[in-house]
Amino acid sequence: MFAQGRAVQEFIASIESAIIAATGLEPGSFSLESPRKAELGDFAFPCFLLAKRDKGNPAQIAGKLAEQLNASLEGIQATATGPYINFQIDRSDLARSLLGSIRSQGALYGNSEEGRGQTVVIDLSSPNIAKPMSVGHLRSTVIGAAIQRLHDALGYQTVGINHIGDWGSQFGKLVAAVDRWGGEVDLESDPIKALLELYVRYHNEEATDPSLQDAARAAFQELESGKEGHVRAVWRRLTELSMQEFQRTYERLHVHFDEIRGESFYEDHLGPIIERIVQSGVTEESEGALIVSLKEFGENVPPCLLRKSDGTTLYATRDLAAAFHRWELYHFARCLYVVGGDQRLHFQQLKYVLQRMGVEWEPKVEHIAFGMMRLPEGKMSTRKGQVVFLEDVLDRAVAEAAKIIAEKNPELANSAEVAEQVGVGAVIFNDLKRERVKDIEFVWSEVLSFEGDTGPYVQYTHARLLSILTKADAGAIDAAPDWSALADSAGLLLTLGQFPGVIRKAATHAEPSEVTQYLLGLAREINSWIAANRVLGQAPGVMAARLQLADAARIVLHKGLALLGVSAPESM
Ligand code: ARG
Repeated sequence: MFAQGRAVQEFIASIESAIIAATGLEPGSFSLESPRKAELGDFAFPCFLLAKRDKGNPAQIAGKLAEQLNASLEGIQATATGPYINFQIDRSDLARSLLGSIRSQGALYGNSEEGRGQTVVIDLSSPNIAKPMSVGHLRSTVIGAAIQRLHDALGYQTVGINHIGDWGSQFGKLVAAVDRWGGEVDLESDPIKALLELYVRYHNEEATDPSLQDAARAAFQELESGKEGHVRAVWRRLTELSMQEFQRTYERLHVHFDEIRGESFYEDHLGPIIERIVQSGVTEESEGALIVSLKEFGENVPPCLLRKSDGTTLYATRDLAAAFHRWELYHFARCLYVVGGDQRLHFQQLKYVLQRMGVEWEPKVEHIAFGMMRLPEGKMSTRKGQVVFLEDVLDRAVAEAAKIIAEKNPELANSAEVAEQVGVGAVIFNDLKRERVKDIEFVWSEVLSFEGDTGPYVQYTHARLLSILTKADAGAIDAAPDWSALADSAGLLLTLGQFPGVIRKAATHAEPSEVTQYLLGLAREINSWIAANRVLGQAPGVMAARLQLADAARIVLHKGLALLGVSAPESM
């Protein structure tokens, strides 16, 4: 019979090899499906293609093949139903092998080695200094960090890079604004808000006072010249003040970066990269500027601007430098840019320039786009002051969590810590809940709801399992299990068995919502299972089997939340 630790994947593999042996089909040329109804079995194999190949009747072929398969399969029952063969894993075998496998692997369940030796670069978060990190930046940070953890679980070497926006003509404006009005604001106590104020004021006054435009341009030119003077000193101070602020938020989100390489990092690369692009023969001069025409990709595709007529570089120039730098350092299998869908054209242009240059790794560069975060009153805009500040969102969510905990569980010892875990978890989970390309309307009451399809609901389910497990007598879980007590629990077992596949697909698609949706479904299944199956106070064998299932389910919820960056408090 089956060895301990044989997980669902291995049942599938043995069904597939039995089919291959009996039919001569090519491995990989077919895959098992889910039966129409769960009662029919765990997996189904349609015989239509086989019937076509052998010019026979599908139902007859299914009948004969099922007989053959039953002779070779152990612990799996094959039944022909019309043109389908349905397979059912022996319930005791399923429970013993799957629960054994999950519980022995613990937090490592779902991991694999398939990415060994390959590097994945993830460009994430990347806020702009001197501006507040808005809930819009939250998306890149939490989506990017989840994508990184998913690849980590599959054994890839991953490099998370925060491509801070710390370069560009706006810093000319900021330095000029600080010079002019810096004395009128308090840069120390709330630097980001003060800088935003200065920036907005400069932006407004420059419309009527052209000398402001000149001053800003001169400041950026000086910055790009590399001169170690006053402009650079002010710019450096702005960067430091901003980074300190961002760091606070990253700590609350439990996100860290392998590299913080702002756009300024590429300063010394810009000359050489422009030279390299020129050498490849794809550039032209246009009104004093250096461009790469992209007309061949469509009449409406605008050219990529590499250098303006005043000699300064652009966002795209710095991204081209970064792409080459990353390739040379890491020889990545994937280079993922987790950036809003509003920058689609920018990344399309980046890829087109690489294509024109004949760069062979261009297909490995992927823009992982996500939808915009909208307020019910319209699109967020820093300039119009229509933003939701990320810190305020987190604070408000935590305050709300604290209120609910005080109501529902006033005895809770570490309630402040749990409120932070639940509040921050709710915000992260909400952001990862829907397919990433979809726009999100940021509705307070939805983000903060602790019922329905929310992070706190999954956290609560995890805590509920843990409470059952800790109430059981010591050693109860280790009694000889009576697996027949899980005869009705195959659906939940199979869902637990799907977890490794969910991780693999979510990583391939760079789509953390596949994990959130899986966890929501799993949590619902667990709660109905708890309602239908008494765990405590049963005969020892029954109790052991059910405790093992509760333990495996707890492990999967905990791991799934961890992949998303959401904590799982022990009680709440
Ligand atoms: N700082 C940019 C912004 O906030 C995002 C940068 C994304 N990463 C990149 N390599 N372009 O719009």
